Amino acid sequence: MINIQQIRNNFPFFKKGIAYFDNAGTTQKPISVIKEINNYYENLNCNTHSQNFLSLDLNIKIETTRKNVANFLKAKKEEIIFTKSTTESVNLLANGLTFLKPKDEIIIGISEHNSNLLPWLNLAKKKDLIVKFLLLDKEFKLDVKNLQSLLTINTKLLVINHISNILGKVNPIEEITNICKNFSSSILIALDCAQSVAHLSLDTKKIGVDFLYFSGHKMYSSLGIGVLWVKKENFSLLQNYQWGGNMINSLKEVNIKNKYKNKSDNYFKIDQEKIITVDYLDNPYNFEAGTNNFEAILALNTAINYFKKLQNNKIKVYSKKDNKTKIFNSILEYELFLTEYLVTNLAKIKNLVIVSKSNNKDDFLLSIVSFYIKNINSFDLEQLLSSYNIAIRSGKMCANLLLQHLKIDSVCRISLSFYNTLEEIDLFLAKLQLILFKTNNK
Ligand SMILES: Cc1ncc(COP(=O)(O)O)c(C=O)c1O
Repeated sequence: MINIQQIRNNFPFFKKGIAYFDNAGTTQKPISVIKEINNYYENLNCNTHSQNFLSLDLNIKIETTRKNVANFLKAKKEEIIFTKSTTESVNLLANGLTFLKPKDEIIIGISEHNSNLLPWLNLAKKKDLIVKFLLLDKEFKLDVKNLQSLLTINTKLLVINHISNILGKVNPIEEITNICKNFSSSILIALDCAQSVAHLSLDTKKIGVDFLYFSGHKMYSSLGIGVLWVKKENFSLLQNYQWGGNMINSLKEVNIKNKYKNKSDNYFKIDQEKIITVDYLDNPYNFEAGTNNFEAILALNTAINYFKKLQNNKIKVYSKKDNKTKIFNSILEYELFLTEYLVTNLAKIKNLVIVSKSNNKDDFLLSIVSFYIKNINSFDLEQLLSSYNIAIRSGKMCANLLLQHLKIDSVCRISLSFYNTLEEIDLFLAKLQLILFKTNNK
C-alpha cells in the first residue's frame, strides 16, 4: 500500500507547488529516472559496438532494457525497435512498408494525432494509395459498426489510436482487429499507444495488432526514446528507411569478375567490374542505424520498473475535504476515479462542453478530459489558469482533423496522472469558477 504523498515525493518537480495537468503532453519524471540519466553521464558514458569494458557493460544494459520493454508488452525481445519517439516510430513504419501499391487502401482513424496521420498521408500521396477514414460512434470511440463497410479486398492497412489525445476514450481495439482479421488476415493494423501506455497494460499477444508504438516521455521516462513493436513475422514486410553505422555485420567491395554469386538484394553496383555487398545485422538491430540515445534507453528501463511496481500497489488517498481515507486497488482505478470526479464537476458548469461526454451512463473517460467554454477563448483560459500555477493545455492538440470533424475550433485539456490529487482538481475547479465570475460568465 502506498499513499499519494509518498508517490508525489518521488517526483522532484512537485516541490514547486505547480498543479500539473498536461500529462498527455508529457509526464513528470520520478527521481529514479533522473538519477539514472545522471548516472549514465557520470559513470557509464561510452559508445556501444566496441569490446572495451564500458561498451560491453552498456550493451548488456541496453539489451536488458529491450527485454524489459518486451516483457512489458508481452512480446519478444527481437520485436522491439528503439526509436526517438512515437513520431519517429510511425515514420519508420510508413516509410518501411514499401510493398504497398497504387490503389491499395488504407483506413485511418479520424481522431489521429498528426504524428499518426501525416506520415500515412505522405505515404498515400507517394504511392497513390486510397485513404478512407474510420469515424466515431455516439460515445466518441472509433465506430466499430461502420468498419465493415470500409473494408474491401484492396484494404491493406488500418491505422488507429488506442486512446485519442483529445477524447480520452479507450477504443475497442480487440473488436476492431477481429473484424479486420476475419475479413482478411493480411490486413495490417498499426496502433498508436502514445496515450494508453501510461494507463493500460498493453498485451501484444491479446490485442491482435501488427505494429504498436509509444514515446517514453509520456510514461515517466525521458525525452528522446520511443518504441516500435513489430510482430516478428511482419519484419519481412518492413524495409529500412534510415541507413548508417551500427547496422551491419560486414560491407565490402567485390570484383564481379571473380564470379561473385549474389544471394540477396543487399548489393550496390558500382561499375561493370565492381559491386559493394552488405550483410545487415539481424532484426531489430538493422532498424537502429547510428548511435542510439543510450541514456534515454536506460531511463526507459527505470521508468518501466517504477511504473510496474506502482501498478501492483494499492493506493491510499486521504481527502481533507471530507476527512475520509479511500483505498484504490490500482493506479488505474485511482486515475479513473479522478477523471470521473473532474468530469462530474465540469459537467455542472454552465456553458462548458466536455467534448467526448456521451449520454451513455456506463461510458467513461480515462485521464484525458477536453472541454471548451462558450464565450471564452481556450488559449485565454489556459493563460488565466497559469497565473494560479495551474498548467493545462489548450489549442488543437495536433488533432486538427478531429476538431474540424467535431466542428470545434479549439479545446482546453486536462490530462491526469496517478500523482494528481483531488485537492489539485478542487483548486483548478475553484480557479476556473473564479475566472468565469471575473469574466462575467457566471
Ligand atoms: C496520440 C498521440 N500520438 C502521437 C503523439 C506524438 O508523440 P511524440 O511527440 O512523443 O512523438 C502524441 C503526442 O502527444 C499523441 O498524443
